[in-house]
Amino acid sequence: MYVCVCNALREAEVREAAAANPGATPEEVYAILGVEPDCGSCLDYAESLISETHALIDPPHNVVAFG
Ligand code: FES
Repeated sequence: MYVCVCNALREAEVREAAAANPGATPEEVYAILGVEPDCGSCLDYAESLISETHALIDPPHNVVAFG
């Protein structure tokens, strides 16, 4: 699935770049992939994917695990 139609960025590419760059913003992830936002309509979705990926790598420390 495409995240960014303007740059033909796929979800897997964005997730991979985000995983390799903890804390990176969407604009930084796009730059790592060699592109920059054009219309900007994808940035909210990219941000959610990137945040989700970063949370999987470094889960919030305030989460209490039971079991
Ligand atoms: S869809 Fe990503 S910049 Fe346009």
